[in-house]
Amino acid sequence: MGIEKLTDKQEKQDKIVHMFDDIASTYDLANRVLSMGIDIQWRKKGCDKAFEILDQKELTQITDVATGTGDLLIYWKEQAQKNGVAVDKYVGIDPSVGMLEVAKKKVDFAEFIEGKAQELPIADESTDVISISYGIRNVVDRVEALEEFYRVLKPNGIVMILEFTKQERSGMIDKVVDFGMKKVLPKIGGFISKNYEAYKYLPESIEEFLTTEMLAQELEEAGFEMKYTKSFSMGISTLLVAQKK
Ligand SMILES: C[S@@+](CC[C@H](N)C(=O)[O-])C[C@H]1O[C@@H](n2cnc3c(N)ncnc32)[C@H](O)[C@@H]1O
Repeated sequence: MGIEKLTDKQEKQDKIVHMFDDIASTYDLANRVLSMGIDIQWRKKGCDKAFEILDQKELTQITDVATGTGDLLIYWKEQAQKNGVAVDKYVGIDPSVGMLEVAKKKVDFAEFIEGKAQELPIADESTDVISISYGIRNVVDRVEALEEFYRVLKPNGIVMILEFTKQERSGMIDKVVDFGMKKVLPKIGGFISKNYEAYKYLPESIEEFLTTEMLAQELEEAGFEMKYTKSFSMGISTLLVAQKK
């Protein structure tokens, strides 16, 4: 790949990370208002399904990539307790210093490391679980990131992805969802964060992203075995769980 292309990718990635730095202080509030709290159920279901498929009661490490303000780690811990799973260490990784500052104030049981999905600052075969919620869409070099997930996971380790994948919307309800995502969401998110562009980016980035089937295929190409996919709330959010073969 030419240097010019590399620079374009780097610039795009830096812009995305700066955008999250900018909205970090209002991110949690906007999230809860926009999802009306339903995202909590999506997160818990993802954790439960990962524990069910992994089927182990003692884990060394759960690593949440693109952890942002660390929300998912809270549900990992809660659901581990509910499922009788003992976890030695929780780690959150994100390139946005602003998001990590919020995370560190909120989540006191995890270690937070600045880093990106394409170059994870952890050793080979060191984690039982990799999770990434609403983050993989923001990773410009997605294929490299999936290869990194494979490298750092132990054999049989689990990757759990929650994401707004691209949907083929054609019915009446789909049109309503589409209107909400493209017209209403940027206004509410923009009002709360005072950054309209960041919340206009959200529906745009979903349209530019992969369908669930395409993402599943990329996971398989990176060496994972697909174990479970489920879409929630009229296809707004999707859960994918895959296992390192
Ligand atoms: C929509 S937020 C999701 C945060 C959190 N996981 C959640 O569920 O609320 C996306 C996060 O991805 C992070 N991000 C952007 N590019 C990334 C990359 N290349 N590697 C890892 N994280 C990245 C951003 O800094 C941001 O915190």
